Amino acid sequence: MSSRILHGSCARLFYYYLMKIGEKMHYEVIIPAAGSGKRMGEIFNKLFIDLDGKTIIQRTVEVFLSDPYCRKVILAIKPEEKCICDRIFADKKSKITYVNGGSERQYSVRNGLEAVSKDTKIILVHDGARPFINHNQIQELVECARKMGSTVLAVRVKDTIKKTDGLTITETVERDNLWSIQTPQAFRTEVLKQAHSWADETGYLGTDDSSLVEKIGLSVSVTEGNYENIKITTKEDILFAEAILKKRSN
Ligand code: CTP
Ligand code: MG
Repeated sequence: MSSRILHGSCARLFYYYLMKIGEKMHYEVIIPAAGSGKRMGEIFNKLFIDLDGKTIIQRTVEVFLSDPYCRKVILAIKPEEKCICDRIFADKKSKITYVNGGSERQYSVRNGLEAVSKDTKIILVHDGARPFINHNQIQELVECARKMGSTVLAVRVKDTIKKTDGLTITETVERDNLWSIQTPQAFRTEVLKQAHSWADETGYLGTDDSSLVEKIGLSVSVTEGNYENIKITTKEDILFAEAILKKRSN
């Protein structure tokens, strides 16, 4: 093989890898953290519960702060909890933008949207209460949102699901196409903005961001995640969280 051909194919390989690296997209993340944690039954926001030396919100935010593809973390919080957040994130201020949370999760996300940088093409929305997300899953979502417009992390439902009339079973639902929807949910910026504008105009209140996108007639794909990405909601979730941490430290 002549050295010119060899140089040519090396150069092509080099550019191919450059393109591959270039394909990984940057994103910004909105983290709604302004809830009350009523179902946890504490007198304070559950996100400030300590899990093996770090609060839940610290663990969640740190996943994004340590991701080189995350340009900005937009944290929606209650104004009265700004002090405690300042203390938790004292040495990580530069990458975090605070916005005021709203009375509903959807409004917290909407407020976060206003802080998204103009040139950001992909936005993730991720619950402050899900600290076990990882960089590979995030990048998979970002890539999928770039191609498809919207995607949500989800796991297949494990239990048999039945519908009832009162307490009488009326139907056993086919499980094959049932998913438990998690976060992050990833969107092209214009898609999420359009969905939230529509919700504002109509007064529609959804349980997650993807439902707003569905309502404006755009499709949302599912990205299969894993069962460790729990949302810490009730007391027993703290036990699960501790078990996950223990497993990870082994
Ligand atoms: N959240 C928010 N603004 C609200 C309500 C919720 O930013 N008005 C956030 C929570 O802080 C949490 C995420 O949305 O990180 C998911 O909500 P959920 O798990 O339901 O938390 P809480 O609303 O705090 O809990 P609960 O419903 O038990 O009161
Ligand atoms: Mg809630």
